[in-house]
Amino acid sequence: MDFPFEPYRIKVVERIHRVSREERAAHLERAGFNVFKVPSDAIYVDLLTDSGTSAMSDLQWGALMTGDEAYACSRSFADFESTIKDIFGYAHVIPTHQGRAAEGLLFSVMLKEGDVVPNNIHFDTTRANVEHVGATALDCVCDEGLDPTLEAPFKGNMSLAKLRRAFERYGRERIPLVMLTITNNSGGGQPVSLANVREVAAFCREMGVPLVFDACRFAENAWFIQQREAGCADKTILEICREMFALGEGCTMSAKKDALVNIGGFLCLNDPELAREVTNLLILREGFPTYGGLAGRDLAAVAQGLREVLDPDYLAYRIGQVARLGRRLDELGVPFLRPAGGHAIYLDARKALPHIPQEEFPAQVFTAALYLEGGVRAVEIGSLMFEHKDPETGRMVHPAMELVRLAVPRRVYTHTQLDYVAEICARVMELGKRLVGLEITYQPPALRHFTASLRPLGAAGLIREA
Ligand code: F0G
Repeated sequence: MDFPFEPYRIKVVERIHRVSREERAAHLERAGFNVFKVPSDAIYVDLLTDSGTSAMSDLQWGALMTGDEAYACSRSFADFESTIKDIFGYAHVIPTHQGRAAEGLLFSVMLKEGDVVPNNIHFDTTRANVEHVGATALDCVCDEGLDPTLEAPFKGNMSLAKLRRAFERYGRERIPLVMLTITNNSGGGQPVSLANVREVAAFCREMGVPLVFDACRFAENAWFIQQREAGCADKTILEICREMFALGEGCTMSAKKDALVNIGGFLCLNDPELAREVTNLLILREGFPTYGGLAGRDLAAVAQGLREVLDPDYLAYRIGQVARLGRRLDELGVPFLRPAGGHAIYLDARKALPHIPQEEFPAQVFTAALYLEGGVRAVEIGSLMFEHKDPETGRMVHPAMELVRLAVPRRVYTHTQLDYVAEICARVMELGKRLVGLEITYQPPALRHFTASLRPLGAAGLIREA
């Protein structure tokens, strides 16, 4: 059977609309060919992100009603803390309003100017938070993780050789921590194996440097370990999580992913001194240590979501749904980064639109065309997001890959809707050479992909006459 089994039935639905092609064309024009600026009411299937877009369960909605809004030491915090300790096993649990707040707090305390943080691949907010304190974010993913056509089980793994070289080059004193992002979002949602975590952890111990996880999609990563790694098939998801986290000294977490909520995050640490310093900063920036920028009800929903995400039936459905979208795209000849990720498919726009050079943003062209053709919103992960000037040579540097991420929200869309997405992707492929490149008409100095405006090169719009 090609249908991953949904371990739930639908109790509440939200009406969505398909707006006409003329309306979509007008929206796209107004948005400067940047789908971040298209109103969500004009979107049919929204695959911009899997972050904060999950459908909550009846038990989570129930937890919102019974959440305890006491300013200090609420019952909901006790539930949040004990659930997290049970899964992650760290001594100190610090709530934050989302993942990047946890990163900001951790790096403010641990890093200073000139430091270096190795990671498999930093997510963009993680990189920005490292750089914000004047430190350098260094990506050390294994070489397989950089080859979009290679089928391999753990392309999120960190290269030990690259990690070693980082220590040789910068010295132990400049590296206050090593991070591992599970799954590796910026590298295609690819998992990290338990064996790789063990190796990295052993090396960190040898160097006397703490290993900290970016744990956003930890349960999806654990599922891949259970399914793909030798000797792990008989372990439960919870056992794998505990084994994995026991190898590190803490984690940052955006609860907007694998805690199945719309807002929330946390930071876990073993080191009591570090936890105390972070907590003092938390009170200044986020809130009292038992709510950290969240309502009591949010904490309660996170705790319940963390219990639900460990369900093997849920994970089989979740990752099966993304894999199935990949199979549909294969049938239709749409190229994507291999293999399908845990939370998303990353279309390969260089392969799909080889006639558009990187200076003309092929992945952004594909993204705009997905909206124009079918009201599908994806996100560009290519030159619009990552093109930059080399500070030494002054030349523009383009990213190795031009990707279009189709991130699948958790428990939100049906197989039918994702089949529709695959067909729209195929329709864009068929347009092929008729699609024209884009040029920028406005860009801010940093993180330009969110607000930049563009226009098609040539007078006929995004699609040239046949
Ligand atoms: N780390 C990773 C690996 C992420 O994917 C994200 C967010 C964050 C940290 C930051 O968490 O948004 O709660 O502050 N990723 C979203 C995405 C935005 O679309 O991939 P946050």
